[in-house]
Amino acid sequence: MQAKRLLAALLAASVAHAAPIEFDDNKVFVVSQKPVSTSPYKPQAKSATLLANVTDPDLSRDSCGSVKMGNRTLWTCRDTSIRIPDTDQYGFVFANSAGWTDYRQDGAPDIQTTGPVGAGSDGTNSILLMKGPRPNLPLFYPLGSNMCPTSGICIDGTTRWTTWPDSPPMVTDTAQNGTITAYTWVSNNHMSSTGLEVLTPQPSTTLYKMTYTPDANTDVLPAVTTVDEAFWEEHEIEYGTYGNVVQGGYAYLYGLLQPGGVALARVPVGSIEDESQYEYYVRGNWATTKPAINDTAAAVPNAGTTGQGTFYYSERAQSYVWIGQASPSIWADFYVTTAPSAEGPWTTPYLLYSGPNGDGDLPSYSLQAHPHLLREYDDGIYLTWTQYFKPSTYTAYVTPLVYVSFV
Ligand SMILES: *[C@@H]1O[C@H](CO)[C@@H](O)[C@H](O)[C@H]1NC(C)=O
Ligand SMILES: *[C@@H]1O[C@H](CO)[C@@H](O)[C@H](O)[C@H]1NC(C)=O
Ligand SMILES: *[C@@H]1O[C@H](CO)[C@@H](O)[C@H](O)[C@H]1NC(C)=O
Ligand SMILES: *[C@@H]1O[C@H](CO)[C@@H](O)[C@H](O)[C@H]1NC(C)=O
Repeated sequence: MQAKRLLAALLAASVAHAAPIEFDDNKVFVVSQKPVSTSPYKPQAKSATLLANVTDPDLSRDSCGSVKMGNRTLWTCRDTSIRIPDTDQYGFVFANSAGWTDYRQDGAPDIQTTGPVGAGSDGTNSILLMKGPRPNLPLFYPLGSNMCPTSGICIDGTTRWTTWPDSPPMVTDTAQNGTITAYTWVSNNHMSSTGLEVLTPQPSTTLYKMTYTPDANTDVLPAVTTVDEAFWEEHEIEYGTYGNVVQGGYAYLYGLLQPGGVALARVPVGSIEDESQYEYYVRGNWATTKPAINDTAAAVPNAGTTGQGTFYYSERAQSYVWIGQASPSIWADFYVTTAPSAEGPWTTPYLLYSGPNGDGDLPSYSLQAHPHLLREYDDGIYLTWTQYFKPSTYTAYVTPLVYVSFV
């Protein structure tokens, strides 16, 4: 009787996987089963190290995200302007740009202790050096045919189109020969050039495809093609822009609901361009009918705060993770939530780390996590954000890189 209770307790705790357990002189084989996690993964910061600024000192770059491609990191950023030589002024705004950073031999980001003077580099502070071509027109993510080409600034100067990436490229395939395929969804934002007033509150979304064969030359960027300028039409949920994760043969794509909430779609990873292959998570089930942007039944509770951040899958923790900013917030306060599956249940987001802020109107934003910078044995996460300063304090955007180790 007592032995039976003991076995029941052992099974309940799921501590043994197909391992023989001995009791009462009998060997009992416990059927192999996935460990049922009794409590969700809840990483806490043990320590945080401000490592460097991520920068090409000749460029002022806003809101960068990153992905691993070949043996480098590709960074895609929003507004990028070029330093006027020997000044701290930057001219001409490109709505997006891309650049590379290197890894060290041991797999850590290749941080250098000093660098050329410019954006985020006074010549004495550490930098993770971005390489790659000067931004050019057409843009890395080209504007649509109706978007005041080629810069996006319209002729009367009062409005502009911004091909601002919200998430870095999502890699879907690496071929035998090393050629990488990736996709990105970008909102077709049309806004006032003087403020941040949005003229299309529920814009359509462009799907871009990238292909890249790793090349020793850092001036070679992935080749970008526009798959569909309105893959998601105006007033539809912009699945993929809020974040995405490729796992178990599927691409999981998160998009914001209006007025609030986070929705989820999935598609087999080889069928990104085929809208008929998409499924949508509504009322806890996968359905083939796309929900409306205001359908509260499409909300996945706590799958991010709706602030900017990054979704990823942690092999180490066997858990989905989202790290990003609270909403609304203008501070470098990184919140975290986790889930055993892309659909949830997601834990209530809690504060993981607070970083130093700028002193401008928007002191900190575009909070991002960079899971691909981790080595297998690193238990923690690399984080970046954009620090924005008053022009009298600092004239460039600054992107600090922090490593937060977990308890
Ligand atoms: C980033 O750049 C700014 C401006 O040069 C500098 O004040 C700051 O110390 C740098 N941060 C790091 C972590 O190097
Ligand atoms: C690499 O393989 C891909 C997919 O199999 C193919 O489309 C591409 O042409 C190849 N590229 C090179 C440089 O061989
Ligand atoms: C990275 O890959 C490129 C292209 O395959 C190769 O030329 C280069 O030597 C590699 N660099 C390192 C540090 O492995
Ligand atoms: C959602 O939007 C549609 C179209 O604008 C509208 O007809 C409907 O009433 C809205 N539903 C809710 C729940 O707000």
